Amino acid sequence: MTPAPKLPDHLPDLPGFRYVSKFSGGAMGEAHLYHSTIPGQADLVLKVIRQQALHSGDSLVRARFLREIETLKALDHPNVVRFFGHGEHAGAPYFTMEYCDGGDLNEYMRDRPALPLAEARAIILPVLAALRYLATAPVTAVDRDGGTRPEVGVVHRDLKPANILFGGTVAARLVKVSDCGLAKAFRAAGWSRITDRSQVGGTPEYMCRQQYHDYLEAEPEVDVWSAAAVLYFLLTKSPPRDFGRGNRLTIIETQPVVPIRARRPDVPAQVAAVVDTCLDDTDELRFKTAEEFEAEIERAFTDSGVI
Ligand SMILES: Nc1ncnc2c1ncn2[C@@H]1O[C@H](COP(=O)(O)OP(=O)(O)OP(=O)(O)O)[C@@H](O)[C@H]1O
Ligand SMILES: [Mg+2]
Repeated sequence: MTPAPKLPDHLPDLPGFRYVSKFSGGAMGEAHLYHSTIPGQADLVLKVIRQQALHSGDSLVRARFLREIETLKALDHPNVVRFFGHGEHAGAPYFTMEYCDGGDLNEYMRDRPALPLAEARAIILPVLAALRYLATAPVTAVDRDGGTRPEVGVVHRDLKPANILFGGTVAARLVKVSDCGLAKAFRAAGWSRITDRSQVGGTPEYMCRQQYHDYLEAEPEVDVWSAAAVLYFLLTKSPPRDFGRGNRLTIIETQPVVPIRARRPDVPAQVAAVVDTCLDDTDELRFKTAEEFEAEIERAFTDSGVI
């Protein structure tokens, strides 16, 4: 592997955008903020892929990754963070996306107690709307040799509180799912951290057993499980499994999900039953689509007087 070039802390301006600052470093990249210099045009985030995340610095591989990002620009939904463009800087691939100025769900929960049911419902419904859209969204698949073909549906594979952002305006907040399709783009480039079991990155807290076993073939159902896990987190401030100690992947494999009422007894029985059913990953997952889960959880909320 070629040595990783050091990324500068200050990036150049882009046409129509002024560089502001680096604002975070996630597991796979560094996020930088740009302000628009054109009135009415939204600000954007530029994410540079960390060289450590790449198993290969090969320019063809980088090109394959960027081609995949290009196809993700077709994703267009109010609850999905938009991809805008891409390029390379100092040998590192980057892409740009819509800036969401309301922070992410992890930050939101940091100084709050577990949410009231109605607020948790209001956050999870748009997430499910995003999953419904993604399940049939038209994208383009990029083959290893660079060929392309039309494809339907994107499995997120990394749905978790840090990838759920608040955008829109302060007066009209919109919940937006970020990093949609990125796991696939990483895979297309052969950089998928998670395909190599010794190197699982990200957060196993929001990953079901089925996804851990068969990451490459993950179906949309794994995202439905993750959405239920996010709902569980909003209601309990804890992921569904007890990750207190030990290897986190072994815990996915061996530990059952803790029934939600064991952590929060005032969750209505009907709501708890739907959440617990959705999160039961001992065998086959019960809910295959976001629609199915949404229909059941909405019925449970309504019947329990949560609106
Ligand atoms: N488009 C965006 N608008 C506003 N903030 C963002 C945006 N994208 C990312 N962020 C912020 O930067 C943080 C880090 O993002 P990043 O996606 O790099 O890492 P992560 O979500 O923690 O992990 P992963 O690499 O597994 O996605 C996010 O949690 C969020 O707070
Ligand atoms: Mg992210």
